[in-house]
Amino acid sequence: MAKQSLKQIKTESTKKELTPREVVRELDKYIIGQDAAKKSVAIALRNRWRRQQVPDNLREEIMPNNIILIGPTGVGKTEIARRLARLSNAPFVKVEASKFTEVGYVGRDVESMIRDLAEIAVANVKTEKTSEVRDRAKILAEERVLDELIPMKLPKKVKTENPDNGEEDEMRRQTREKLRKMLQGGDLEGKTIEVQVNADTMPMMQVFGPFGSEDLGANFQDLLSNIMPKKTKTRRVPIPEALKIFEQEEAQKLIDMDGVVKEALQRVENSGIVFVDEIDKVASTGGETHGPDVSREGVQKDLLPIVEGSTVMTKYGMVKTDHILFIASGAFHTAKPSDLIPELQGRFPIRVELNSLNEEDFYKILTMPENALIKQYTALLATEGVEISFTDDAIREVAKVATEVNEQVENIGARRLHTIMTTLLEDILFDVPDTITQKQVRITREMVHEKLSKIVKDRDLSKYIL
Ligand SMILES: Nc1ncnc2c1ncn2[C@@H]1O[C@H](COP(=O)(O)OP(=O)(O)OP(=O)(O)O)[C@@H](O)[C@H]1O
Ligand SMILES: [Mg+2]
Repeated sequence: MAKQSLKQIKTESTKKELTPREVVRELDKYIIGQDAAKKSVAIALRNRWRRQQVPDNLREEIMPNNIILIGPTGVGKTEIARRLARLSNAPFVKVEASKFTEVGYVGRDVESMIRDLAEIAVANVKTEKTSEVRDRAKILAEERVLDELIPMKLPKKVKTENPDNGEEDEMRRQTREKLRKMLQGGDLEGKTIEVQVNADTMPMMQVFGPFGSEDLGANFQDLLSNIMPKKTKTRRVPIPEALKIFEQEEAQKLIDMDGVVKEALQRVENSGIVFVDEIDKVASTGGETHGPDVSREGVQKDLLPIVEGSTVMTKYGMVKTDHILFIASGAFHTAKPSDLIPELQGRFPIRVELNSLNEEDFYKILTMPENALIKQYTALLATEGVEISFTDDAIREVAKVATEVNEQVENIGARRLHTIMTTLLEDILFDVPDTITQKQVRITREMVHEKLSKIVKDRDLSKYIL
């Protein structure tokens, strides 16, 4: 019996769980190079699934392969983690370790990352469940609009005073069906009906302002909104909007929130991914006994129990962090991974270096990924009926300029491509559709040169523009 259920789980999860090679292949669609990093995140992801197949007693012993990604800015560290989470449909949060350094209430407490993760997971599961019930919610919403237009059930009083209305009932039914057809055909879009909507009590909460009302808020906001009487008010809205409001309300009623929360917490515990950026900024370099190093070490010490595995209280319930995958990242220019406190180092056994990107990489990044910048701009201009194209040597020129500016000014990796492309295309983006009316625009090497070379030569100018 137990055997069979294990087998069932296996066949079910193999369907969607990618093998390490498949993960790398998926990541390749978005990220150029960085093969070592792709490989280790792929293994870490698969190991987590493998762990779930291991018999109970051993399973709890197997720890996640937490990873430190080491590399300069803008080379794909965050992008790899983000894509990985999306691939595996895992709840994902990105936090900056340095955010926790500020002392006092402005700095966020470290556990908030787990609360955020729970929040995201609940939202994801809720969205999934909502789309599962959407068809039914639509039908129910339609019913409610029809109820407003032509009530099927007459008030009891009218019925008892006037018992013989079978004929009238039938007429009502027919009219209702006619109206339903019109509703479905969109013929009632101009009409309005009255709906009861929840009067918003939330705006008041904004008073708490910018300092971490979300921390304070986790339970507090909920509490308040539960204490306050739910006010409703009547509003007259166009029928399409009413349909939307009803659909949401009906979907809300159809999904089982307890089930959503249960599934979400289970996903957080077994497949959550926390990306801790700028971990090097909390490594202490001097070995001082006071000052900033102490506060940095403090953050590491706060991180430790969460990474090691502890239980965090969220507003949805307890979350065990033992099997959450932590991917840390940092440039480690001055500090080294060995400057982290030993316990934390031990919790991040895998270190991978990412390479800085060269001209050839930039050329590929501009063209190959599914979200490549050239593809993005082509799609943007296509909405205006303009077909933009780039000659191959124009793209090479952009890559070359990006490399030059990175060398001269500051190396910000692939982010440089964004600033260069916006500068390059600024005039076109501004002039379409008013003064550029031709259907095709071709960007050549000369145009790139003309537009960018002056700025590149002038270091001061490029500091500001590119
Ligand atoms: N190897 C790459 N392939 C494709 N796109 C990349 C690559 N590296 C960076 N990019 C693009 O550059 C941008 C910045 O990358 P990302 O956010 O991953 O940088 P990072 O390595 O996390 O830098 P930081 O240390 O500053 O956080 C993203 O828009 C990403 O799509
Ligand atoms: Mg990053």
